[in-house]
Amino acid sequence: MRAVGVRERNGRPEVLQARQPEPGEGEVLVRVVAAGLNPLDWKIAEGMLEDLVPYDFPLVMGVDFAGVVEGGGPETYRFTSGEQVFGHVVSEPVGRGTYAEYVVVNEAGSIARAPASIPLTAAAGAPTAGMAALGIMDSAALRSYESLLIIGAAGGVGTFLTQLAAARGLRVVAATHGHDQPRMAAFGAALTVDVRERDLADAVREEYPRGVDALVDLGSASPEEFARHAALVRDGGVAVSTLDAASVEALYGRGIEGINYHIAASAELLERLGEEIDSGPLTVPIETEVPLDQAPGAVARNRAGGARGKTVLLP
Ligand SMILES: NC(=O)c1ccc[n+]([C@@H]2O[C@H](COP(=O)([O-])OP(=O)(O)OC[C@H]3O[C@@H](n4cnc5c(N)ncnc54)[C@H](OP(=O)(O)O)[C@@H]3O)[C@@H](O)[C@H]2O)c1
Repeated sequence: MRAVGVRERNGRPEVLQARQPEPGEGEVLVRVVAAGLNPLDWKIAEGMLEDLVPYDFPLVMGVDFAGVVEGGGPETYRFTSGEQVFGHVVSEPVGRGTYAEYVVVNEAGSIARAPASIPLTAAAGAPTAGMAALGIMDSAALRSYESLLIIGAAGGVGTFLTQLAAARGLRVVAATHGHDQPRMAAFGAALTVDVRERDLADAVREEYPRGVDALVDLGSASPEEFARHAALVRDGGVAVSTLDAASVEALYGRGIEGINYHIAASAELLERLGEEIDSGPLTVPIETEVPLDQAPGAVARNRAGGARGKTVLLP
């Protein structure tokens, strides 16, 4: 089958011919209709999980998928052939990813019926970013009427988080790299700050002299940059990093709960995400649809920055 992956750790993504995977015990075979692209994909290919899980090369990249169940191995109960599903899969060993015509997924993992109200091509953009946004809302215990500053609000996780938070009555301050005001307002942001045009601290202090209630920082990889953003949180607030940049002990001194968030993908979280999409105003922010054989270029663009929502790959 056609696939896209790397031949070695840190290798350049390329179109590959890979063996079509066969479902083992408890696994279903899914024909991939679309694969969502996440920064996680190239981080895994760079070796992010090397200390935790063995790698198998050539490594087919990709974690998010939406598609149609084509069959199952022994001991499969949840899905039958023909069902439309979406999900998030990290194989063990790493290397049987979703940038391919087929993927096998353990039924006990993060796979659920696809939301009925959107096409599979859109559903493929939802799993990782949408589950992360829902998980962050849970772990930071964000409540209505609170103010939430999101750094990197225009990207994949940020656009889901903005929508979920606004729908729950939070006042979202969206920090972006570029002129994203109309787009972020449409997702529910109360205020959008282009940090290349305006000093973020000035903009936040103007509206919140004592600081915002909560920060979710999706952009700062360094503890120093995160700490500059956390300085905009009021004492007793909460500050979340998705990049392990929160110095939890330093924040504790100001009564701020620091959280280094790690996604806990599950079927239950995916099902909640599907319900949010089907029942409410949650839009999957698809930025581009790209044929699978152009995935190497799409990965390079994602790595270079500038994401405005989700890219999906079409086998
Ligand atoms: N820990 C976890 O479980 C978990 C889960 C999901 C995602 N993540 C990580 O969280 C990060 C965000 O994920 P994503 O899928 O949303 O990525 P994405 O789609 O690439 O979006 C990131 C967005 O943040 C913007 N940005 C970065 N730094 C910024 C800053 N200082 N101020 C304003 N905007 C800034 C980027 O704009 P420019 O590119 O123009 O700078 C881009 O629009 C990634 O590093 C991802 O790997 C972690």
